[in-house]
Amino acid sequence: MKIKTSKVAVVGCGLVGSSTAFSLVTQGVCDEILMIDINEERALGEVLDLRDTIKYLDRNVKVRTASYADCSDVDIIVITAGAPPQKGQTRLDTLEVSAKIVKTIVDPVMASGFDGIFIVVSNPVDIIAHYVYKLSGLPKNQVIGTGSSLDTSRLQNFIAELVNVDPRSVYAYSMGEHGDSQMVPWSTVTVAGKSFNDIIQDNKDLVGEVDLDEIVKKTTREGWEIYNRKGTTYYGIATACAGIIKAILYDENRIIPVSTLLEGEYGETDVFAGVPTILNRTGAADILEIHMTDEELDKFHQSVEILREYTEKMHTPD
Ligand code: 2OP
Repeated sequence: MKIKTSKVAVVGCGLVGSSTAFSLVTQGVCDEILMIDINEERALGEVLDLRDTIKYLDRNVKVRTASYADCSDVDIIVITAGAPPQKGQTRLDTLEVSAKIVKTIVDPVMASGFDGIFIVVSNPVDIIAHYVYKLSGLPKNQVIGTGSSLDTSRLQNFIAELVNVDPRSVYAYSMGEHGDSQMVPWSTVTVAGKSFNDIIQDNKDLVGEVDLDEIVKKTTREGWEIYNRKGTTYYGIATACAGIIKAILYDENRIIPVSTLLEGEYGETDVFAGVPTILNRTGAADILEIHMTDEELDKFHQSVEILREYTEKMHTPD
């Protein structure tokens, strides 16, 4: 009798990968974590450092270095390796370099017999997730990009600050590109079930004149606000990633706006974009297609068109 242990591999032991592993260890999300990096000494350094946390945590999560050949029985592989944007670049500008790096990961992982779930963090995440989907040949539910899960956290923070509530009581999604063209379907935003539009109307003394476009701009810019001050971002994306992994390993049917393949939803096909998605042990199980106004749907299509343009630029795998 063999009890199945839950295994997560983190590929790329930089700040995002190591923070993701730290989130998984401190939250006791899985039984074992495999740290993989082309810089094996860096991977070992992260493992040794992470092991020092166990004494003061609630769960003895096993952490070790590994290689792509060890991935055959891994449940989830998180891909964080990629090219950070240079000054003045957008996430989309890093596509070619990141794609080359990701191919050197996916090919040997698939050769190991891996049949689990990829969670793609590497930017531009929507296009890279689509590339991993094509390269791996795995079913769509087994390839997930972190998508607009992080943008949604930022959006909820800004709304919560405005109306002085807990961000976790705000129900709002950023959708489309994890990038400059993302959009917010404001007609669907509520705070504890009360529509945000009603809250604005009923609390003019508290919130004054609210510029919704400015909130979207702030959400879109937040990654750069952090990047310009500390050179990168990692706590937010790492914790979003841990939340996605919990939804999968715990079979939660939790709805998170990850980047998943659209196959007709919102009238779009063959493109990965950030949309509210039901996550469970099968991965991206289903898309919750929310009702948007015509104007919101048009903004969503504009964002998807940018993703489609870059997706088509990607040379298709040989
Ligand atoms: C972010 O928005 C780096 O894309 C990541 O923080």
